[in-house]
Amino acid sequence: MSDLRRYLRGIPVFAGDLPAFDPTAAPDEPETLFVAWLRAAVDAGVREPHAMTLSTVGADGVPAARVLILKNVDDEGWQFAVHADSPKGQDLARQPAAALTFYWPAQARQIRVRGTVRPEPADLSAADFLARPVGSRAEASLGMQSQHLTDPHTLEVAVKQAHDRIADNPGLVVEQWTLYALAADTVEFWQGDQQRRHTRLRYTRADIGWTRDLLWP
Ligand SMILES: Cc1cc2nc3c(=O)[nH]c(=O)nc-3n(C[C@H](O)[C@H](O)[C@H](O)COP(=O)(O)O)c2cc1C
Repeated sequence: MSDLRRYLRGIPVFAGDLPAFDPTAAPDEPETLFVAWLRAAVDAGVREPHAMTLSTVGADGVPAARVLILKNVDDEGWQFAVHADSPKGQDLARQPAAALTFYWPAQARQIRVRGTVRPEPADLSAADFLARPVGSRAEASLGMQSQHLTDPHTLEVAVKQAHDRIADNPGLVVEQWTLYALAADTVEFWQGDQQRRHTRLRYTRADIGWTRDLLWP
């Protein structure tokens, strides 16, 4: 066994006091359970519990994943905002299917969401853009995300120019900034257990409402 292998094996998982999860008492809607778990994560001191991994399908058929901030969950779905020209925006334009994954280590909780993604109306995207801090708006207005940065000085100059443009026109909106909503087909709630008797509850969208199933750990 290599040193790293031994080292990794020695890192504890699911340590400490973990919350209880009784799937027989789960609500009818996954969104309700998500918000309850989110609030419990905040109360437990989980940092950035609204950070989630968005997985998309690349043009080459290979998955691509990155962390984003959840903006809202409502009847429209699970919402996040990105620049439409970014690699993830292009993935979603080609293949509007995605997965979201939340992991809250302090509670050994994972939530997995899969479904279809569609852009929200332009006015909602604009409102999301204008609600962002000025630095975020300046950066997003460059439209260069994930392209090669050959010289960091170019970035500094571009950001400064973007700040100036926003100072001149505080209502400036980048039209490619897009609020997306993922309409979930399945949502799985996973509660880890030190004895590895993990509890898994999966909601699957039905003609009316949701069905609920337990899964083997
Ligand atoms: C905690 C955290 C939150 C992030 N939130 C966002 C976000 O809301 N929108 C976004 O476009 N990128 C966000 N990012 C950056 C993305 O993870 C990613 O690096 C970037 O969007 C480029 O992804 P792409 O090349 O797959 O398009 C966040 C990163 C972290 C670590």
